[in-house]
Amino acid sequence: MVSGRKSKDFAMASRFAFLFLFSLLIATSFRFSVAGDDVTTGAAASDDLLIRQVVDHGEDHVVDENSLLNADHHFAIFKKKFSKSYASQEEHDHRFSVFKANLRRARRHQKLDPSAVHGVTQFSDLTPREFRRQVLGLNRRLRLPSDAHKAPILPTNDLPADFDWRDHGAVTPVKNQGSCGSCWSFSTTGALEGANYLATGNLVSLSEQQLVDCDHECDPEEKDSCDSGCNGGLMNSAFEYTLKSGGLMREEDYPYTGTDRAACKFDKTKIAAKVSNFSVVSLDEEQIAANLVKNGPLAVAINAVFMQTYMKGVSCPYICSKNLDHGVLLVGYGEGAYAPIRLKEKPYWIIKNSWGPNWGEEGYYKICRGRNICGVDSMVSTVAAVSTS
Ligand SMILES: *[C@@H]1O[C@H](CO)[C@@H](O)[C@H](O)[C@H]1NC(C)=O
Repeated sequence: MVSGRKSKDFAMASRFAFLFLFSLLIATSFRFSVAGDDVTTGAAASDDLLIRQVVDHGEDHVVDENSLLNADHHFAIFKKKFSKSYASQEEHDHRFSVFKANLRRARRHQKLDPSAVHGVTQFSDLTPREFRRQVLGLNRRLRLPSDAHKAPILPTNDLPADFDWRDHGAVTPVKNQGSCGSCWSFSTTGALEGANYLATGNLVSLSEQQLVDCDHECDPEEKDSCDSGCNGGLMNSAFEYTLKSGGLMREEDYPYTGTDRAACKFDKTKIAAKVSNFSVVSLDEEQIAANLVKNGPLAVAINAVFMQTYMKGVSCPYICSKNLDHGVLLVGYGEGAYAPIRLKEKPYWIIKNSWGPNWGEEGYYKICRGRNICGVDSMVSTVAAVSTS
C-alpha cells in the first residue's frame, strides 16, 4: 500500500512537473518568438528588466507610448546601469531629451528590424551625430580602390554550413575603443590577430594605439583621406602602413589609451606580427565566406545606424543605408538556430565589434546575410601574416 501510494504521488508529481515544464516551454518559446531571438543564446535568459520594459510591451514588442511616458524611470535605470553622471543640471536635461528621442528611435528601429531586439544601450544619451563622431570612425570611401590587390576566386562547394573563428581560438576578447573614432584600428588588429594565429599558432593581442599614433597612411586614390587616429581611418590603409612599417607590437607593449594626442612610440624591436600581403574580397557572399574560412577573420565595413539601439538577435532591417561608417571584424556565419516558433531561419554573419563586452551579444553583432544589408559585403579585406616558422 505504501509503495502504491508513493507511486501514485510520484505520478501526480510528475504530471504536475510535466505540466509545469510544458507551460514554461510555451511561455519561453512565446517570449523567444516575441523577442525574435535565438534559443541558443544564454543572453536571452539573462535578458534584463530594462530590455523587457522597453521593448516587450504587448504583442507589438516595441518601445511604446508607455515606455515613453515612463522615460524618466528608464533614464534613471540607464544612468545607474552605465554609471552616467552629468556635469550640470542643464547637461542632464539635455541628455534626458536625447534619451527620449532615442527611445523613439529604438521603437522605429524595432519596427524596421523585427528579428533583432532594439532598446536602450550605453549610447542612448548620444545624438546620432555624436554617436557617429565618437564611436565609429571609418573614413568615407567613395569607391573601392581599383589598384588594390584582388583576392583570388576560391572554391565554395565545400564550405561548412556554420563557422565561427571563436571556436578555433583565433579571436581575442572583445575590446573597447571608448570615445575615439578608431574602429578602423580594431578591425585591422582583429584581422591581423587571426592571420597571425593561422601563420604562427599563437593568438597575440595587437596594438591599436600604434595605429592610432603612428599610422598616417593615405588612401592611394583619395590623397586627402588619411588614417588619422580618433578622427577615422581605413583598414586597407592600415594594412599598408603595417606592411611598410614592419609590423605591429603587442597590446601590452603599446597599450590603448583612446586618445590621439601622443607621439608615436613604435619600437621596431618589439614587433609581434607582420603583414605578408592583403587583398580586397569581391562583393560575392560565397567568396566572402570562403575567404573567411581559408584566411581567418576579415576586416569589413558597415553602416552602423542600427547598432546604436541594437541589443541582440539577427539584425535584418528592411531598409538600411549602404554608406559605410564603421569598421568591424567578420569572424563567422550561421544558418539561424532552431527555435520552436519561428517563421523563418535567417542566415547571418557574426561580427566582432569594439564597444566592449556589454554592448550587443557580449560585444558581438549578428547581421543577416543575403542582400548586402547595411553595406556589409561592400568593403571586405583579407590579410595574411608572415609565418615565423
Ligand atoms: C597573398 O598572396 C598569395 C600569393 O599571391 C595569394 O595566393 C593569397 O591569396 C594572398 N593572401 C591574401 C590574404 O591576400
